[in-house]
Amino acid sequence: MIRITKDSAVSLHSKCKEVEMPLSKENEETLEEMLSYLIDSQDPNYREAHPKCREGVGLAAPQIGKNLRMLVVHYLKEEGEVTHCLVNPKVIANSVKKCYLSSGEGCLSVDSPHPGYVYRDYRITVKAYDSKLGFEVTIRATGFDAIVLQHELDHLDGILFYDRIDKENPMKIIPGAIAI
Ligand code: NI
Repeated sequence: MIRITKDSAVSLHSKCKEVEMPLSKENEETLEEMLSYLIDSQDPNYREAHPKCREGVGLAAPQIGKNLRMLVVHYLKEEGEVTHCLVNPKVIANSVKKCYLSSGEGCLSVDSPHPGYVYRDYRITVKAYDSKLGFEVTIRATGFDAIVLQHELDHLDGILFYDRIDKENPMKIIPGAIAI
C-alpha cells in the first residue's frame, strides 16, 4: 500500500537521482504500483472506502518516498486515456508561450491551500523510457497534458507547484498566457 509523502518532508524539496537502466524489476513494480494508485484514486467508490485517498492525475516517485527520476501520469480525456509511466524523463523542447490552470494547481503531497497561478510552458516535448510500453518514447504535449507533465517533472527536481507562484502577486496575469 502506497503512502504519500507530504511536503513537510525534506525529500520532496530535493533533487532525485537518475534511474539505472535497464530498469530493475523493483523499479518496474514501483511504477506499476504508482499507476494503480492513480487509477484507484479516480474511482469514487475507492475514495469512499479510503477517505485519506485524494484524486490525482499524476504521481512522482519522491511522493512515495523514492528519490528516483520516475513518474506516472494517468487520466481520461474526451479523446481517450492518457497514461505514461516514465523513467529518466527529459524535456528536449519547449514553447515560449505559457499556459496556466485557471483553477490553480493541486498536489497529493500538499494539503494546505496555495492560491495563485502556476505558469507552465504551453507545449513541451519529453523523451523518456516508458515502463508500461517497454521502450523509449517521445511525448509532445500541449495545454493540460503539458501542465501535468511539468508538474510531475518538477517533483524530480524538488520543486513544488507553489514554489512557482508569484509571492507578491499570486494572481498575476502574464500577457499572452493561455488559461486552461
Ligand atoms: Ni504534485
